[in-house]
Amino acid sequence: MKILVTGGCGYIGSHTCVELLNENYEVVIIDNLSNSKEDVVNRIEQITNKKVKFYEGNVQDETLLKRIFEENKIDGVIHFAGYKAVGESVKKPLMYYENNLESTITLLRIMNDFDCKNIVFSSSATVYGVQESPKYVETMTRKETSSPYGTTKSMIEKIMEDLYYSDPTWTISLLRYFNPVGAHSSGLIGENPNGIPNNLMPYILKVAIGELPELTIFGNDYETPDGTCIRDYIHVVDLAKGHLCAITHALDNKGKLHTYNLGSGHGVSVKEIVDTFERVNNLKLNYKFGARREGDLPEFFADPSLALEELGWKTEQSIEDMCRDAYNFIIKETEK
Ligand code: NAD
Ligand code: UD1
Repeated sequence: MKILVTGGCGYIGSHTCVELLNENYEVVIIDNLSNSKEDVVNRIEQITNKKVKFYEGNVQDETLLKRIFEENKIDGVIHFAGYKAVGESVKKPLMYYENNLESTITLLRIMNDFDCKNIVFSSSATVYGVQESPKYVETMTRKETSSPYGTTKSMIEKIMEDLYYSDPTWTISLLRYFNPVGAHSSGLIGENPNGIPNNLMPYILKVAIGELPELTIFGNDYETPDGTCIRDYIHVVDLAKGHLCAITHALDNKGKLHTYNLGSGHGVSVKEIVDTFERVNNLKLNYKFGARREGDLPEFFADPSLALEELGWKTEQSIEDMCRDAYNFIIKETEK
């Protein structure tokens, strides 16, 4: 079986390629390297000892997409390609709507033309918006999101749902990720954003290696046990395995629209992440408590029972594993 992975050189895409190759899927990547490096392809091959077919280009490029489908008999697509920086999307909404929506619509159109109607999409817990309960279940309705980035995810979910209702021979899996962190245990692939990171773990890593002076914990006056925000962190390898389960299930259960939460089901506070990071890596992080960050919710976590029931998937790796693997990756990166 051959899977096209859009954005396969990125953080989650690269880990997913590894899991697919380990299960003997053939992998074709399209990535325009706007937020990744071509060397990731070599690293995926190094970890798995398998070959990957790589096309450098934009998913909005219809001609290139057609060529990929002509040159490869694609059985299914996992669609990661898109921009993902929340703050940047507030400043440059058109750039986000254009890239995330246009690439998805072009991709769906070409898939339809080639009668390849099986897609797994990278959605996000951000589509839940603010709910009555912090435990998010797939049956909750999508609410207003807090950024244009989040809105692109909501809109794409809706586009894919409408597509399915118009033609139920499509198989569509919407995967709502909670907070992916960590890296492959080899230390060869992981997340190392350029500039000042917005997300917690990349920021912690930059402080740990001395690239940034200090972490600010955004708020310690929330109504949570230690006053800091609670999230559902998921090891990126567990998340990648979730994609493997989703595409395998989709290939066996055609003509369905699925929506799954991919999270651990456990809420962990920012302070607990910081404490665990210090303990497992045997270091001290320079941090202080600061003001709340606008738009942050005090607490949310996944109800992951549907993914367990239907895909047989659940997370296996602990917060300790996430902290250890993330640090191992960044140390290896900085040694280069
Ligand atoms: P990433 O930026 O590391 O990977 C995305 C990849 O897509 C990059 O390699 C980039 O070069 C590529 N890309 C972007 N636009 C493209 C285009 N038009 N054509 C071809 N390639 C393009 O991001 P990630 O963390 O791996 O996230 C993957 C997907 O998961 C994204 O859609 C993101 O929105 C979604 N997601 C991520 C998180 C997270 O916390 N990382 C959470 C929820 C959802
Ligand atoms: C954010 C996005 C969300 C996106 C997700 C993954 C917002 C409002 N939400 O979620 O749409 O899907 O990233 O990319 O931006 N924190 C600190 N100090 C820091 C950084 C973060 O204390 O320097 C705290 C935050 O307040 C939060 C927690 O760490 O409580 C996690 O933050 P982050 O990694 O940015 O993820 P989310 O805010 O959950």
